[in-house]
Amino acid sequence: MGISARLLLLTFTLTAVAIGTANSEQSARIVCYFTDWSINRPGIGRFGSENIPTELCTHILYSFIGVNDTDWSVLVKNSEVDINQNGFRNFTQLKEKNSSLKLLVSIGGWGEDGGKFSGLVSLAERRQSFIHSVVEFLYEYGFDGLDLDWEYPGATDRNGTAADKGNFVYLVQELRTAFDAEGKGWEITIAVPVAQSILEDGYNVPALCELLDAVHTMTYDLHGTWDGYADVHSPLYKRDYEDAAHAKLNVHDDVALWENSGCPANKLVVGVPFYGRSFTLSASNHNYSLGTPITGAGNPGTYTEEAGALAYYEICAQVQNASLGWTVEWDDQGKVPYAYKDTQWVGYENEESVQIKMDFIKEKGYAGAMTWSLDLDDFHGLCGQERALLHIFYNNLNNYTVPKPTTSD
Ligand SMILES: *[C@@H]1O[C@H](CO)[C@@H](O)[C@H](O)[C@H]1NC(C)=O
Ligand SMILES: *[C@@H]1O[C@H](CO)[C@@H](O)[C@H](O)[C@H]1NC(C)=O
Ligand SMILES: *[C@@H]1O[C@H](CO)[C@@H](O)[C@H](O)[C@H]1NC(C)=O
Ligand SMILES: *[C@@H]1O[C@H](CO)[C@@H](O)[C@H](O)[C@H]1NC(C)=O
Ligand SMILES: *[C@@H]1O[C@H](CO)[C@@H](O)[C@H](O)[C@H]1NC(C)=O
Ligand SMILES: *[C@@H]1O[C@H](CO)[C@@H](O)[C@H](O)[C@H]1NC(C)=O
Ligand SMILES: *[C@@H]1O[C@H](CO)[C@@H](O)[C@H](O)[C@H]1NC(C)=O
Repeated sequence: MGISARLLLLTFTLTAVAIGTANSEQSARIVCYFTDWSINRPGIGRFGSENIPTELCTHILYSFIGVNDTDWSVLVKNSEVDINQNGFRNFTQLKEKNSSLKLLVSIGGWGEDGGKFSGLVSLAERRQSFIHSVVEFLYEYGFDGLDLDWEYPGATDRNGTAADKGNFVYLVQELRTAFDAEGKGWEITIAVPVAQSILEDGYNVPALCELLDAVHTMTYDLHGTWDGYADVHSPLYKRDYEDAAHAKLNVHDDVALWENSGCPANKLVVGVPFYGRSFTLSASNHNYSLGTPITGAGNPGTYTEEAGALAYYEICAQVQNASLGWTVEWDDQGKVPYAYKDTQWVGYENEESVQIKMDFIKEKGYAGAMTWSLDLDDFHGLCGQERALLHIFYNNLNNYTVPKPTTSD
């Protein structure tokens, strides 16, 4: 063996040690977001921690806490549910039902001002007080790690700055050091956007992916009322009719963007929505094709009560009932269903489209699947099997071993 081969071998060994699981085989991740507001939904919509399936997920993430930008500590945003009603502790007690579960707390979300994160990462002493507060918080409630959901570093329209991209890496580096020092196996994960410009402005992809345990791609909400037409929001592949501005907005290309930017496939967890995005069409519009013009968001669901979005259980209960008169169609290229009736149009995921996404994940050697979110699946079995969509995650990923990445860097 020549000198150069020895050097290569040495480099490989050191890298493998430094990045831990990145170069070894691992079991797949089934990542399930839990929301602390779904407990307040009416009737059968109510979803509390007692409804969480502890046998179908590997990671469950409690959403959301925030950032206190006065003393740079963890901010409890829904203290009535999280603390007074014991939400945090009920959640972490799920470990008693399945000791192999990892129960993380998620910080940020769309509702949290990006400017607070920007201020936090900008100074070393702020990062240190924050990390100290996170460590105390994880001990106090018994969480197994932190999921970072800053939307988004470097996004000036969300109060970010150009310095965020570098500073965010410092935060994750320092968190990693602090967590490793505790020796509890605490994880650090991240929920990430998939638009190329947002990535370029705020994410040092190779550095982040090396430090993080997993990266959850928010591969949904790729289309919505902002487009001005009706469309499915988590198409797997590009559709022929898409113009240059929309051509990359599909799951396949978006996860590939992370991979091609330097994130190993076995760190990438593919997000799948358990909700649909809905639209209202004008009463005179009888063209229900993908891309048909809209007048606005779809009507709110009975239980989720939000214009423009419907839980899977709200959709399946409607479209399966023939007497209600819905028509279900299939986006042949995007590999997802949509349905319509009168002025209402919804693009969503069903058992068939989720199965296709699981096949895609396994074919690509990705790390697993993530869902937003548990409370939107058919958890009462209104349309058949209880938690039909999550069961498809489990049946496909439970016995899938994530391969070693084929590229070394
Ligand atoms: C714990 O969760 C895993 C999935 O991550 C599942 O395979 C296992 O059966 C569960 N164990 C129990 C006791 O529920
Ligand atoms: C943030 O921390 C300060 C100082 O500890 C505290 O007075 C304030 O109430 C906190 N803010 C919120 C919104 O909890
Ligand atoms: C926590 O569990 C207790 C006991 O089961 C229950 O009374 C309470 O409502 C739960 N709170 C939340 C927020 O889940
Ligand atoms: C940006 O900051 C302003 C002023 O503090 C605030 O009103 C606004 O909600 C913030 N924007 C976002 C997207 O958080
Ligand atoms: C229906 O709308 C689609 C999308 O705008 C368009 O391509 C198609 O030509 C329309 N069909 C008819 C019959 O007008
Ligand atoms: C179908 O919808 C009708 C009208 O709302 C309702 O009476 C019936 O119970 C529904 N059937 C099922 C199987 O849910
Ligand atoms: C994995 O599990 C599924 C259902 O749980 C089963 O159909 C499939 O045969 C299993 N595959 C392997 C390789 O064991």
